[in-house]
Amino acid sequence: MTSGKFITFEGIDGAGKSTHIGYVAEKLRQRGLLVHTTREPGGTPLGERLREMLLHEKMHLETETLLMFAARREHLAQVIEPALARGEWVISDRFTDASFAYQGGGRKLSLDKLQVLEQWVHPNRQPDLTLLFDVPLEVARSRLDASRELDRFEQEKAEFFAATRAVYLQRAQDFAQRFRVIDSTCPVEQTHARLDQILATI
Ligand code: TMP
Repeated sequence: MTSGKFITFEGIDGAGKSTHIGYVAEKLRQRGLLVHTTREPGGTPLGERLREMLLHEKMHLETETLLMFAARREHLAQVIEPALARGEWVISDRFTDASFAYQGGGRKLSLDKLQVLEQWVHPNRQPDLTLLFDVPLEVARSRLDASRELDRFEQEKAEFFAATRAVYLQRAQDFAQRFRVIDSTCPVEQTHARLDQILATI
């Protein structure tokens, strides 16, 4: 049996990535593929509990990073690896690129520490495709729903998101083989057309 494929969605808060996950999953299901959609932090009962803490409780930067990777370890063990081994496809709303962008870029944790954790938690697994939804900061900020309470990350300042976005764009260059950058300011039909184009190649 051929192994399934692992697709990740990335972007700063307000980049609009989550709204396109359903579209991509549906397109793949139309090909007869079995597709799981999941998210990080989260994706397992334990991971969802860690998500609650990560999004709402104040903590040391290294604690935050270790909990992100703890949730990821569980996600890989319970959801991602078993599904891929069964030949099914997995779409995750965020993965390790988010740790490099947010904890590394936004919060300035050293790259060495992030690389150690990446090597520890998933030495032999990288996404087959990473869709990076990119928008200017002002657009992202304006999209955050003002009617609900913002989480610990969404409350960060513009400089935090500028640094986060810069790391994402740098990684898209460094790992150009798996990354595709999507201009998320485009109208939805245009974004769908671009996604169709990308999906035709995998
Ligand atoms: P979401 O709002 O896209 O579900 O993501 C939750 C928040 O968690 C988002 O602000 C980004 C942040 N995050 C990190 O800081 N590091 C990580 O490794 C992951 C997966 C998410």
